[in-house]
Amino acid sequence: MTRSLGLAGKRVLVTGAASGIGLETARLLAEEQVVLILMDRDQEALANITRELGAVASVGGDVTREQDCEAMVAAATAAVGSLDGLVHCAGISDRVAKAFEIDIDEWQHIVDVTLRGTFLACRAAARVMIPQRGGSIVTMSSIRGLIGSPRRHAYGPAKTAVAMMAKNLACEWSLSGVRINAVAPGFIRTPMTDRLIAEGKLDEKLLTDRTPMGRLGSPAEIARATAFLLSDWSSYITGVTLPVDGGWVAYGGAGPVETH
Ligand code: NAI
Repeated sequence: MTRSLGLAGKRVLVTGAASGIGLETARLLAEEQVVLILMDRDQEALANITRELGAVASVGGDVTREQDCEAMVAAATAAVGSLDGLVHCAGISDRVAKAFEIDIDEWQHIVDVTLRGTFLACRAAARVMIPQRGGSIVTMSSIRGLIGSPRRHAYGPAKTAVAMMAKNLACEWSLSGVRINAVAPGFIRTPMTDRLIAEGKLDEKLLTDRTPMGRLGSPAEIARATAFLLSDWSSYITGVTLPVDGGWVAYGGAGPVETH
């Protein structure tokens, strides 16, 4: 076992790489000399990041479309022969609305991006990982998928399903040498979170008071946990969902942590 993460030279596809957690993970992997292939629906931002990080290929596309997921893996194999890793960060937030206020088409769209998108991306990557008998996949669940939350009726259940998907696929693919794990970020300072705070859908003070570590997380902290799960340092870990949340899920009290 090497003392470094041992990711140098590994061929890794990162989805959602144009912003937030995906971007920060791509940055960390670039520092680790990973051979990067980037994917996002925001092609303009992706082009700049591809240049900045020296990624070998980048692909625009929508993860809810099977042909786009297959095309991103085809682009990776065309560029570098195969894939050793997938980090699937492409995702959206929901509108944060009570059950009776949700438009069902909007609900379906969030479920599609979160659940269908994750399944299609994982399946496309595993199609090339299984024949080579090796690969590591990291997906993004959320603490919203681990605890109950009002007004998160599409996002929360879909993130629970992402956690279950890691378990199910781990059971199916482990003997083929493919590991799959999920990260469940807590409240992380990204454009997605900033948007929700600006729209008054998240209360920053309430969140920090409720977090045992007393602060929001950074995308770099999610990137480091993701890199660990991607690397051989986690060689006997599969099917888990790792909360990276400053203790949010651990806390069982009511109201601010300090009052307990
Ligand atoms: P972000 O909005 O900063 O970045 C998401 C990226 O995914 C964007 O570049 C966007 O263009 C891309 N994307 C969205 N839909 C896509 C689609 N259909 N096809 C291809 N690309 C698409 O968001 P952030 O915060 O980096 O979130 C990344 C993941 O982490 C998401 O799955 C999110 O649900 C999850 N997460 C984030 C948390 C946070 O506090 N920021 C907390 C828990 C989970």
